[in-house]
Amino acid sequence: MHTLEIKKNIFWIGAVDFAKRNFHGYSQSPLGTTYNAYLIKDQKNIILDAVACDYAEVMLCRLAQVLPPEKVDYFVINHTEKDHSGALPVLFERCRPEKIFISAMGKRFLEAQFDTSSWPLQVVKTGDSVSIGSRSIHFIETRMLHWPDSMMSYIPEDTLLVSNDVFGQNIASSERFSDQIDSAFLLTAVKEYYYNIILPFSPLVLKTLDALEAMRLDIDMIAPDHGLIVRGRDQVAGMLAAYRALAEQKTPRRALILYDTMWHATERMAAAIAEGFAAEGVPYRIMQRSVVHHSQIMTEMADCGALVVGSPTHNNNMLPGLAEVLTYMHGLRPHNRIGAAFGSYGWSGEAPKLIHDRLASMEMEMPAEPLKLHFAPKHEDFCQCRDLGTAVARSLKTRTG
Ligand code: FEO
Repeated sequence: MHTLEIKKNIFWIGAVDFAKRNFHGYSQSPLGTTYNAYLIKDQKNIILDAVACDYAEVMLCRLAQVLPPEKVDYFVINHTEKDHSGALPVLFERCRPEKIFISAMGKRFLEAQFDTSSWPLQVVKTGDSVSIGSRSIHFIETRMLHWPDSMMSYIPEDTLLVSNDVFGQNIASSERFSDQIDSAFLLTAVKEYYYNIILPFSPLVLKTLDALEAMRLDIDMIAPDHGLIVRGRDQVAGMLAAYRALAEQKTPRRALILYDTMWHATERMAAAIAEGFAAEGVPYRIMQRSVVHHSQIMTEMADCGALVVGSPTHNNNMLPGLAEVLTYMHGLRPHNRIGAAFGSYGWSGEAPKLIHDRLASMEMEMPAEPLKLHFAPKHEDFCQCRDLGTAVARSLKTRTG
């Protein structure tokens, strides 16, 4: 079992889950995820974070490569979601740490999930630190990033920030460091994770980034609990900048046309709407709901300032797959977008108005009335569709300068 020394006497002892796909509805791409955990060897040996329950033995095996488990003195638990806490009962029995450092909310969540009656939990808060010999661990609470229990751990002597889910990516790979893979691939993975997990908490991300700046922390490595470890000052600066840009949600000049269809009429409308964007020089992507996962749609939203959604009317509603996407999207709270709705119908035609209202409920600017066409679009209907695309494209150009 391979154990990697990421800094002197600091070891990665996590697990790579190549098979993982579904994470409470978020379908990870393209190849699973990583549960990162770290060991620091010092006068006091300390484990930071842990792995999912299925990987407890993997983590213990990596640990044993560099330290007998019974020699571990402390645990730090930055986040108690099961992908990081599931292995704790096994780890606790094997390591029997003297202290377990955790946030107040983390303690409550841990007590709700496990029998912690014999666990030496010690609550810490922002500003607290613990010396482990030649180093100290400084705790920074990051409530709601992305759980109420979340915190980070900073080790100034190693200029290392252990950041739990923040700055994470769902990448399963043999590489462990950000500078070992293509930077565009890494950025896409960061966007995917952000837009499917972190997005609702964007205002807090900005506050946290400001707070980290105000603390003047010297960081040359960010070790998240998922994916690749960000190594080097340039890479760290790049990650912080990427996170700020994602959190700011400035409107990108690009459109997503998303539709579902029964007999290809709404599909033809989507193609005609795209002509309006093309005429205005606004790039776009067309996605058919039935062939993409809602996670991919959210990732695409990271680069799209306009969302045009179409569905035929089915049982007085939009098609159920599209309703599911909009429910998922609504919960993730995208901001600063422009929206529009369309669809064909046979006899009642409620879907476009329902979509319009759903997008408006996400505070999207809606520059056009919902467009509905009776059965398949006819030649003369083409202009109406194109004009919808043109109206949205012009609003997008106005907003993005
Ligand atoms: Fe990776 Fe919120 O757990």
